[in-house]
Amino acid sequence: MRIAFLNPSGKMGGAETSLREILASIRAAQPGWDLWLVLGEDGPLAQIARAGGVHVEVGPFPPNLRRLGDAGREGGAFGLLGASTGTARYTLQLSRLLREVAPDVIHTNGFKMHLLGALACPRKTPLVWHIHDYVSSRRLMSRLLLIARRRCTMAVVNSKSVGRDLATVLPKLPAVAVYNAIDLERFSPAGEKLDLDALAGLAPALPQTIRVGLVSTFARWKGHKVFLEALSRLPAEVPIRGYIIGGSIYQTAGSQWSMAELRQEADRLGVADRVGFTGFVEDPAPAMRALDIVVHASTNPEPFGMVIIEAMACGKAVVASQAGGALELFENEENALGHPPGDADALSKLIVRLAADADLRHRLGDAGRAAAVRCFSNTRLATELIAVYGQATQQVRFSAGERRPSDPRAGLTAADRTLPR
Ligand code: GLC
Repeated sequence: MRIAFLNPSGKMGGAETSLREILASIRAAQPGWDLWLVLGEDGPLAQIARAGGVHVEVGPFPPNLRRLGDAGREGGAFGLLGASTGTARYTLQLSRLLREVAPDVIHTNGFKMHLLGALACPRKTPLVWHIHDYVSSRRLMSRLLLIARRRCTMAVVNSKSVGRDLATVLPKLPAVAVYNAIDLERFSPAGEKLDLDALAGLAPALPQTIRVGLVSTFARWKGHKVFLEALSRLPAEVPIRGYIIGGSIYQTAGSQWSMAELRQEADRLGVADRVGFTGFVEDPAPAMRALDIVVHASTNPEPFGMVIIEAMACGKAVVASQAGGALELFENEENALGHPPGDADALSKLIVRLAADADLRHRLGDAGRAAAVRCFSNTRLATELIAVYGQATQQVRFSAGERRPSDPRAGLTAADRTLPR
């Protein structure tokens, strides 16, 4: 079996972290399969994939296509028009490459690659769209996907919530929910810890300090300001130091905070001495291990939320925003604590509660680790994806005229899937 994965970015955002685990898990489950990765931009993902035995082709997007927003804003029809000449040439090159590689299945990750994949995919090759984000709120992208949908065999969604949203835009597209996975050895309670204070340029914190961190890209909806505000509401005597771990990684203008903006906000709220900014860290696991509490504070419904399962797997007490697919990842009060998105007051109270209660932190951390082992392992991911590739291949054969044994969509709708327990 030969699978070609198509991904717009070479940088490690959530969808790329998800893809890294997909590549690793399929490689482990099916060492004989031939895996290809086509990237619209060079970056760490290229090296990671190569090191894992994947053939990597980097075909840089033309500048207009690169800027056409998918991390937040859409460039609108003008952006699209501007992108079209370069895009036509790019599509031709991509279709030539795909004909040469001749994959059995094409798996696209990210909206631009869903569209380009639909344009460049050889006629009888199954095309699987892996949808990581809500589609219905992106009007232009919804319309484009609706047009391109005819070439797509089926979709994988990262949560039931994203599946329900996709069904409002593309009701006829078969979709299956496959939860992301993580490397449970890498994201584990034992291992190296980062010196967050040194990274942030702060003096070492006092020994009894409770470290609370938001680990995230700088996309504006990730809740950095809510986190800073929650820190500003903490009673002065609670020995807490906050950390903002991450940096701006997207090229899309206007979709993310800059470090300067966040530092200004910390100043404005009077918490500059209580919070450290580490900048982008290559490997979040040692950063999470150095924390006592990991905060997820997205203000929009989070489609999935890699950081939640990563922190659970590291055995940390997690406080997560209760909306979207994130809701499917934890049991409130059992293996993590939830707060309403955007509610700095609720977030701050949960931080105080956890800071005062080491037993609660450990109980949540242990239960979080157990849930991660149960639900988010690479073996589960590989099994589910291999089944998807089988289904997609069958569907293409059926639509080419073979008799179908039953409705090919049976058992495939995201709404029917449940979290493995
Ligand atoms: C996207 C989503 C995020 C998810 C990731 C992996 O980045 O916004 O919620 O965790 O994809 O599926």
